[in-house]
Amino acid sequence: MIPLAMPLIGDDEIAAVNRVMRSGMLAQGSEVAAFEEEFAAAEGANAAAAVSNGTTALIVALQALGIEPGDEVIVPSFTFAATANAVATIGAIPVFADCDPDTFCIDPDHAASLVTTHTRALIAVHLYGHMAAMGRLHELARDNELYLVEDAAQAHGAERDGHRVGSLSDLATYSFYPTKNMTTGEGGMVTGRDLELVERIRRLRNHGMTERYHHATVGTNARMTDIAAAIGRVQLRRLEIWNRQRRAIAATYDLHLAGNVAVPFVAADTYHVYHQYTVRSSRRRDLVESCEETGVGYGIYYPIPCHQQAAFDRYSSGRALPHTESASEEVLSLPVRPNLTEAEIEQVIDAVNKGAKE
Ligand SMILES: Cc1ncc(COP(=O)(O)O)c(C=O)c1O
Repeated sequence: MIPLAMPLIGDDEIAAVNRVMRSGMLAQGSEVAAFEEEFAAAEGANAAAAVSNGTTALIVALQALGIEPGDEVIVPSFTFAATANAVATIGAIPVFADCDPDTFCIDPDHAASLVTTHTRALIAVHLYGHMAAMGRLHELARDNELYLVEDAAQAHGAERDGHRVGSLSDLATYSFYPTKNMTTGEGGMVTGRDLELVERIRRLRNHGMTERYHHATVGTNARMTDIAAAIGRVQLRRLEIWNRQRRAIAATYDLHLAGNVAVPFVAADTYHVYHQYTVRSSRRRDLVESCEETGVGYGIYYPIPCHQQAAFDRYSSGRALPHTESASEEVLSLPVRPNLTEAEIEQVIDAVNKGAKE
C-alpha cells in the first residue's frame, strides 16, 4: 500500500525534541520565539505568532480583527470544515461562496455577489497548495472595506502573480498537522504585516495576558509548545526542497496522466506547492477502484462541501453552489509526498491510467 501522506521525520527533528526535553522548558518559550522569527522571515511576513493548530490560528486571527457575533464572513464551501468552524465558533456567520472550477479556490465574482452590509471579512483558502486569486480578492476586500484573511493551511511557500502567501491580506494562517507540507505534530501559525495585530494574537493565545496575571482582554490557551516549535524549525529548513520535490512529482504525473483525467490546473505565474495532487474525473469511482486494487492510497478532499454539511445547515439557506457540488463528486487526490520512490510514482500513474481506461 502506498500511503497518501506521511510526516517526514528524521534524526534532526528527533535531536531537536531531545534537546528541548532535556532543557526542562516544554511549554511556550525560546524555541517558539525562534520559530516565529524564522517562519516570518521565510514567508516574507513582518511578524508571526505560533499557536496550537491551524483552527485556533483562524479563530484568533478573526478575533484579533474584531469580528464579532452576527458578523458575516464569506468563506469557500469547498474547504476543510475548520475554515467555517472557526467563523461559527466565535458566533459569526459563515457565508458560503462557490469555487472557481479550474483552481477549486473561492470564486471572486461569486464572493462579490454575497457581500451585504453585515459582511466584515473574507477568507481565501489556498486549496491543495494553489493560491486563490488574491489580486481580485484584495480589490474586493478593499472596495467593500472587508478584512481579508488567507487560510494557508495547505500552502506553505506558495506564490501567485509575484505575491507570496500573506502579502495581500491582513493575516494569513497556517497548519502544521502531520499531513501538511511541513509539520510540528499539531501546530499553527498566524503571520501578518501589522505588528500590533500580531501582538494582539500573542495576547489572545495566552488568556489575554499582557504581563503575568494581567489580563487585558478575554483570551484562551492556544499556545504552541517548545517541543512542537523545535520540530517546526527543522522542518522549515527543508520546506523549500520538499516543495520542489512535490512539484517535480506533479510534473511527472501531469506528463503521464493528462488526457486520461483532468490534471491540476495551474494559473499563470503561480507557484503551486502541491499539498495535494488532485485530478478530476467524472469516472472517479473507476479510479478509486483501480487505486484500491493496486494498493495506491488516495483521498477525496472534500466529498461533502461545507454548505451541505449538517453542522452548517442553518447558514447555508439551501443555496446551490454548482461548481463546488460537481467538484466534490469528481476530485481525487493522489500521493505526492516528497519521499515517493520512482517505483511508487509509476505505480500511481499505472493505477490512474488503468482506472481511466476501464
Ligand atoms: C484548509 C484548512 N484550514 C484549516 C485547517 C485546520 O488546521 P488544523 O488541523 O491544524 O487545526 C486545515 C487542516 O486540515 C485545512 O486543511
